[in-house]
Amino acid sequence: MSPNLATLCYLVSGALFILALRGLSSPESARRGNVFGMAGMAVAVATTLLLTGIADGFTAVLLAVGAVAGGAFGAVVARRIPMTAMPQLVAAFHSLVGLAAVLVAAAALYSPQAFGIGAVDAASGAVALRTSSLVEMSLGVAIGAVTFSGSVVAFTKLQGLVSGAPLVFPMQHALNAALGAVLAALMAWFILTAEPAAFWMVTALALALGVLLIVPIGGADMPVVISMLNSYSGWAAAGIGFTLENIALIITGALVGASGAILSYIMCRGMNRSFFNVILGGFGADDGGGETKSADARPVKQGSAEDAAFLMKNAASVIIVPGYGMAVAQAQHALAEMAQALKKNGVNVSYAIHPVAGRMPGHMNVLLAEADVPYDEVFELEDINSRFAQSDIAFVIGANDVTNPAAKSDPASPIYGMPVLDVEKAGSVLFVKRSLGAGYAGIANELFHRENTMMLFSDAKKMVEGIVKAL
Ligand code: TAP
Repeated sequence: MSPNLATLCYLVSGALFILALRGLSSPESARRGNVFGMAGMAVAVATTLLLTGIADGFTAVLLAVGAVAGGAFGAVVARRIPMTAMPQLVAAFHSLVGLAAVLVAAAALYSPQAFGIGAVDAASGAVALRTSSLVEMSLGVAIGAVTFSGSVVAFTKLQGLVSGAPLVFPMQHALNAALGAVLAALMAWFILTAEPAAFWMVTALALALGVLLIVPIGGADMPVVISMLNSYSGWAAAGIGFTLENIALIITGALVGASGAILSYIMCRGMNRSFFNVILGGFGADDGGGETKSADARPVKQGSAEDAAFLMKNAASVIIVPGYGMAVAQAQHALAEMAQALKKNGVNVSYAIHPVAGRMPGHMNVLLAEADVPYDEVFELEDINSRFAQSDIAFVIGANDVTNPAAKSDPASPIYGMPVLDVEKAGSVLFVKRSLGAGYAGIANELFHRENTMMLFSDAKKMVEGIVKAL
C-alpha cells in the first residue's frame, strides 16, 4: 500500500472514531457509535498491516495468535462482566494501553531502524536517534508507565482486592513533587544521551509514581481517576504515534486524551469538586456511607409497598430518580415493570438522571437501557428539574446525595454548589433505601424528615417488586 493511500485510510479511520464518540454521547445512538468505532479500528489495523507488510511467516503466525487470543479474551470478558464491574474493567484496559506504550517505546529504542527513526551503529552498538523522537519516546514511556501502574492500583481498589480507603502519609504531595522533578531530570538525560539505562530508570520511576499518585485516592473517587488515566493513556499513545510517525495513532491518542480530559471535567463539575482536589486525593476518606453524620431527631414517616402503590396509582405524574442503590440492588428490571404498570393506570412516568448518579458516568442510563426503558422517558437534570414542582410524586430509588437540598442551602456542606434534583418540590417524595444512612458524600439528608416525604425502608429490588405486586 502506498503511503498516500495509507494516510487517506488513516484519515477515514480517524473520522470513524470521531463518529463513534459522537454516537456514544447518547444511549440511543451508542450502539451505532460502537459500530463506527469497530469499523474505524478494523480500517486502522488493516491499513497498518498493508502499509508495513508482514515480514515473514513467523510474524504472520504471531499476529494471528495475538489477534485470536486477544479477540477471544475480549469477547468473553465483555459478555461476562456485570455492569457494576465496568469501572474496573475499564481500568484494566487502560493498564494495557499504558503497557503497550512502554513496550513500543522500548522496541523503538532497541531497533530504531525497524521504525525508520534512527540507526544502531554496527561497530559500537551506539544508537543514533533523532532528538525529536527521543522527546516523544520519553514522554510516551513516562506517561505510559504512570498509566499502567496507576490503572493496576485503580483496578485492585475497585475490584476490592485491596482496601478502597485512601492511603495517606505525611509529606505525600511533597514526595510526589520531588519524584516528579527527578523523573523530568531522567527524561532530560535520556533525551540528551539515548542511554538505555536512562530509559529504564524513567520507566521504573514512572511506574512508582503511578502507584504513589493513585494510592491516596479513595475508592469512590476512582471513576474520575479512571477517566483521567484514560486521558493519560491517550496522550501516551499520541506520543508514541509521533515516534512511529503513525497518523492513526496520533489522531486516536489525541481523541482519547481530549475526551478523557473533558469527561473528568464534567464529572468534577457534577460533584462540584475541583479536579485537583480529586486527583490529589483524600476526599474519598468519607467513603463507605452508612452512618448519617447529623443527629436529626425529627421523626420520619415510614410506609410500605402497598402505601407507595396506592399513592402512585392515584397520581397524575411520577418522576423516578434512580441512584447508586438501584445499581447495587439491580432493581432496574423491576422498576421498568413498575413504570409499565403505572402507565397502564394512566400515570405519566418519567426518569430524572443526575450527571453523577451512581458511581460512573452514564451508570443509570446504561442500567435503564438494559431494562428497555424508552429513551424518551429519560431526562437529564437540566431538562427535568423544573418539572418536579408540577409532579405529584418523586420516586427516589437508591439515590441520596443527588437529591440533598444542603447543596443549595448549606454553604458548610461538602456538596454545597453541586447541582441537585429538586425532588422536594414534588407533591410527595418517596425514598426507597435500606436505612437513614448517608450516601457517598457521607452527609445527612434532611429531606428524610420532611412533611411530604415517605421513607420506604427496604432493598430497592424487593420494595419495587412489592409495589408491582400491590399495583
Ligand atoms: P448515594 O448518594 O451514594 O446514595 C446511594 C444510596 O443508596 C445510599 O444512601 C444507600 O442508602 C442506598 N442503597 C445502597 N444499597 C441499596 C440497596 N440495595 N437498596 C436500596 N438502597 C440502597 O448515590 P447517588 O444519589 O446516586 O449519588 C452518587 C454519589 O456518588 C454522589 O455523591 C456522587 O458525587 C458520587 N460519585 C459519582 C460518580 C459518577 S461519575 N457517577 C463518581 C464518583 C462519585 P442505605 O444504605 O440506607 O440503603
